[in-house]
Amino acid sequence: MYSIGIITASDKGSRGEREDLSGKAIAETLAELGEVKQYVIVPDEREVLSQAMINMADNVKIDIILTTGGTGLGPRDVTPEATLAVIDRQVPGIPEVMRAKSLEKTSRAMLSRAVAGLRGRTLIINLPGSPKGVRECLEVILPALDHGLAIMK
Ligand code: MTE
Repeated sequence: MYSIGIITASDKGSRGEREDLSGKAIAETLAELGEVKQYVIVPDEREVLSQAMINMADNVKIDIILTTGGTGLGPRDVTPEATLAVIDRQVPGIPEVMRAKSLEKTSRAMLSRAVAGLRGRTLIINLPGSPKGVRECLEVILPALDHGLAIMK
C-alpha cells in the first residue's frame, strides 16, 4: 500500500464556494492503491501549488501525489508550471497515454497540458479538473502505477 497525496487546484474550491468532487473521485479510484495521507485544496497560484507539492514530497514523504485542475489554457491554469518547477525528472509516458486515450472520448483532451514527474522518491501526476476527466485518466494509468511505484523505492 502506498501513501497518496491529493492537491486540488481551484480558486473557488479553496474559498469553499465549490464542493471538490474531483478530489473525492481520486480518493475513490485509488482506494486499492493506498491510503490518502494528505489532501489540500489550494488556489490556482503557482507558488502555493509548488509549496504544497514540496511539503507532501519532502516532509510527509508521500509516495504519489495527484493534482487535479489547472492544466488547461486559462490564464490562471498554472499546475503544469508549478509541477515542472519542483520535479527532478519527467515521466512523459503518463500524460502521453492519458491524452491519447482520453482523445477517444473527447477531442478536448488535447487541451490538457498535464505533466508527470519525480521529485526524489515521490511521483507527481497532473490530472484534469473535472471528476469525469479524473476517472477517465486514472483508469488508463492505474494498471501501470503499482509497478512504477515499486521500482522507485
Ligand atoms: N480528459 C478526459 N479524460 N476527460 C475530460 O473530460 N476534459 C478536457 C481535458 N482533459 C477532459 C480531459 C478539458 S475540457 C480541458 S479544458 C482540459 O482537460 C484541462 O482541464 P483543467 O483546466 O480543468 O485541468
